[in-house]
This record gives sequence, structure tokens and C-alpha cells, in this order.
Amino acid sequence: MAAQAPLGSPPKPHPPVTDPTPLTERPLAGKVALVTGASRGIGRAIALRLAQRGAKVACVATTAERARETAAACQALGVQTAAYGVDVAASAPVNDLVSTVVAELGGLDILVNNAGITRDQLLLRMTEEDFDRVVAVNLKGTYNFIRAAARTLMKSRGRIVNITSVVGVTGNAGQANYAASKAGVIGLTRSVAKELASRGVTVNAIAPGWIATDMTSALDAKASEAIQAAIPLGRIGRPTKSPPPSTTSADLAAPTSRARP
Ligand SMILES: NC(=O)c1ccc[n+]([C@@H]2O[C@H](COP(=O)([O-])OP(=O)(O)OC[C@H]3O[C@@H](n4cnc5c(N)ncnc54)[C@H](OP(=O)(O)O)[C@@H]3O)[C@@H](O)[C@H]2O)c1
Repeated sequence: MAAQAPLGSPPKPHPPVTDPTPLTERPLAGKVALVTGASRGIGRAIALRLAQRGAKVACVATTAERARETAAACQALGVQTAAYGVDVAASAPVNDLVSTVVAELGGLDILVNNAGITRDQLLLRMTEEDFDRVVAVNLKGTYNFIRAAARTLMKSRGRIVNITSVVGVTGNAGQANYAASKAGVIGLTRSVAKELASRGVTVNAIAPGWIATDMTSALDAKASEAIQAAIPLGRIGRPTKSPPPSTTSADLAAPTSRARP
């Protein structure tokens, strides 16, 4: 798996938006969405899909600068957007950020917790710091945003979509930290879904398989071949292709969605 870009490093150029199914209807018009990890990969595709369906989108990455290109691409789809930066693992700044988004974009209806990292290593070689950081970003970061946004989402009868991983269900050698964090996201999702259902808030998790992003781009050819061989369709997914994860996120964000984990 790829090493993470250092915080604050300049974003790489993205391929053009190649959404194969432009929608004429805008079912999310008037809704405000917040997407973490929106600067690239899966989060960028989710932000664009939500914008395409008419939602205003708060694009969040480690720095506002890194999220700016996605925000501009969303704006080109005709919606109000803004770029924000925060370390999702830091609870006080996350609280402040959610308040800022609510004030600047006029509310919050959809929260997509997508930001995530890997620090792969076999258990006996994995440092405590690498275990803690992956759990802090992937699991605590998801909790931080849910906690910060819950009251607002209860008022708007909102939608929460958490991006977990198949690895959170299956486990994976070399990813004890990542798998534990993603299994935690599943438990968090199921629990919060039970707590918020009576307030009209749906809480769902999406568990993608292997998707071609920066996170998976550093896999060597042998590892990549082995992964593809284990996939029934024989190929790795793309973040912008339908169906999941971007289309599924937008579907679960719809006011009509009643899906539960
Ligand atoms: N790719 C896959 O095969 C796959 C499979 C299953 C699940 N997933 C999950 O899908 C999500 C997105 O993965 P991806 O492949 O799109 O990853 P990616 O291309 O590596 O992008 C990661 C995103 O998370 C942001 N991020 C990382 N650490 C952060 C922090 N501390 N605070 C705020 N933002 C942070 C990054 O922002 P910067 O650009 O500012 O660094 C970036 O926007 C992750 O939760 C991942 O675990 C991925």
C-alpha cells in the first residue's frame, strides 16, 4: 500500500472528471454535504457525485489547499462549495470545522466520513505509533465528525455514510491496524444507526474492495496480480465508475434512503 502524502504537500494533478452518467435531475438540491478525504481518490469521486446531484459540498482534506481542486471541480457542476483543512483525528478542530461549514454553507444534511490512511506492516514489526495513528485517523476521525455533526444532523434528519473496507470484515495479513480500524467503523456505524434512527438520521457504511487510488498505487506488480486474481471480476475498481463507492454514497445520502447497515 502507498505511503501517505505528508501533511501539507502539494496535491497531484487529477484526471478530468469523466462521469459516465451525468444526471439531469438534482435530487440533492438544497442539501449541504461534508466529505472528508475529498482531495483525491474515492472521496473526490464522492464529492463530485454529490455535487452532480445538486448538493452544496464542503470538501475536507488535511489542508484547504489540498481540497481546493475538488471544490473547484464541484463548483464547475453548478453548486456552492468550499475547501477546508483539518486533521480528522483532532476532535476540537473538527468541532470548529463543522460549525464553520454549517455557518458558511447554511446547514448540514449529509456527512461522508471517507478520510483514511494505511501504515502496513506485519504485526511483529508494526510500531505502536503506526497502530495508534491508523486507528486515530480512520476510526477516531469518523467518531469525531459524527459527534460534532450529530445535533445538526438530527435537526435536518440527515444522512451519515462511513467508508469502511472489506478488510474490516475479512482481516488482512500486514494490515492489523487498518483492519481493526475499519472493523471499528462497522461497529460504530451499527451502534450510531440504532441511536439516531428514531431521530430520522440514517447511518450506513460502505465497504469497498480494492479501488485504484493513491492508497493502492504503490502495490508492487506481484501483490497487485494476487489481489486481482482473488477478485471474481478479475480487476480492481475505479473511484469514478458506477456503481460503488461514489454512486452508492450518493444513493445513501438521498432523503428517500432508508437503508441501514
Ligand atoms: N483504495 C482502496 O482500495 C480502498 C478500499 C477500501 C476502503 N478504502 C477506504 O476509502 C477511503 C478513501 O481511500 P482512498 O483510496 O481514496 O485514499 P487516498 O487516495 O489515499 O486519499 C485519502 C484521503 O484522506 C485524506 N486524509 C488522510 N489523512 C487525513 C487526516 N489525518 N485528516 C484529514 N484528511 C486526511 C487525504 O487528504 P490529503 O490529500 O490532504 O492527504 C485524502 O483526501 C479510506 O477510508 C480508505 O480506507 C479504500
